[in-house]
Amino acid sequence: MTQETGKRKADHIRICLERKAQAKKATAGFEDIELVHRALPEVDREKISLSTSFLGKKFSAPLIVGAMTGGTEEATKINASIAQAVENLHLGMGVGSQRAAIEDRKLESTYVIARKKAPTAFLIANIGGVQLAHGYGLKEAKKAVEMIDADALAIHLNALQEAVQPEGQTNFKGILAQISEIAGELDKPVIVKETGCGISAEDAKALESAGVKAIDVGGVGGTSFAAVEYYRSTDGKIMGEAFWDWGIPTAVSLIETAQTVKIPVLASGGVRSGLDIAKSLALNASLAGVSQPVLEAAVKGAKETQELLSCLIDELRNAMFLVSAQNVDALSKAPLVISGKTAHWLNTRGFNIQKYAQRGAH
Ligand SMILES: Cc1cc2nc3c(=O)[nH]c(=O)nc-3n(C[C@H](O)[C@H](O)[C@H](O)COP(=O)(O)O)c2cc1C
Repeated sequence: MTQETGKRKADHIRICLERKAQAKKATAGFEDIELVHRALPEVDREKISLSTSFLGKKFSAPLIVGAMTGGTEEATKINASIAQAVENLHLGMGVGSQRAAIEDRKLESTYVIARKKAPTAFLIANIGGVQLAHGYGLKEAKKAVEMIDADALAIHLNALQEAVQPEGQTNFKGILAQISEIAGELDKPVIVKETGCGISAEDAKALESAGVKAIDVGGVGGTSFAAVEYYRSTDGKIMGEAFWDWGIPTAVSLIETAQTVKIPVLASGGVRSGLDIAKSLALNASLAGVSQPVLEAAVKGAKETQELLSCLIDELRNAMFLVSAQNVDALSKAPLVISGKTAHWLNTRGFNIQKYAQRGAH
């Protein structure tokens, strides 16, 4: 890893911790999604099952920690904390982009620590989609997976970040074909994820046709990479400010994608509570992903990380109790009402939002 890449990674962590770099005016849209309360849940809260399976692996709850880091000493500690917590709780996690270690083997340990601390948890390797237009291919994809003995490979799309970053790479031509080749050849499932701007129905369809096995919508409403780059720019340029809140809100992107493809969809970007997770599952996400709040806990330690994740799971259990959902499958059929900007967006785009409200007999 060049010194510059190392500094960029350290900057990202510091900014995401100290400045938060969250969306300002945009929201993920969960406030527009209402689950319908049941005064007579007729279920025993303690007997609710949160377990689920994703790409052939069992999870104790439908939750992963999103891709964040690797490549530096601090990243090793963060990955270790997250991995220990997800191992104890039987969840999953992504590591950050492995480009640093693909280019410099000395840095592999900063990612490998995740598999060391989480021998059985679902681990997701990570490479950048844009790298596929700049020389990366199947060889690098395999290297990333083998490095951490991953269960899946995430290819991240970050066009906004590249566009506002002074050193960004903005040739995205040919990436879909490369994704298709890797999805066809790699012996592990490929997940494509956005990093805070969302996936449209059009792109979801193209990715499904390319052979991708799951899509993580990574919508706007949480961490904003335009904000991260804004804080990074020290040369008086204010790149990033105009695009601070750019993107498709997570709830919108989730509905568009889930109504368009048959492959599993993950909800991430501004997922901040167990209730957000419950709403995501009711909107037919297979899993929800949380990143920035976990970073804050992970720098403290594994115990703090586990406490945060347990709290999210407990909130999810409460939401399931209050909508009378005995298990995750029942939650995916729970009625909900969509209003506000989210409803407006989806109506305008021609998606059916009535069907969620009409679930269940009444
Ligand atoms: C410090 C930090 C570093 C990140 N690095 C990566 C990365 O290397 N690869 C990736 O796919 N996503 C990366 N992300 C994006 C997250 O996986 C996620 O898509 C995004 O933060 C939105 O989720 P959130 O609102 O819960 O933070 C990073 C996020 C943070 C906060």
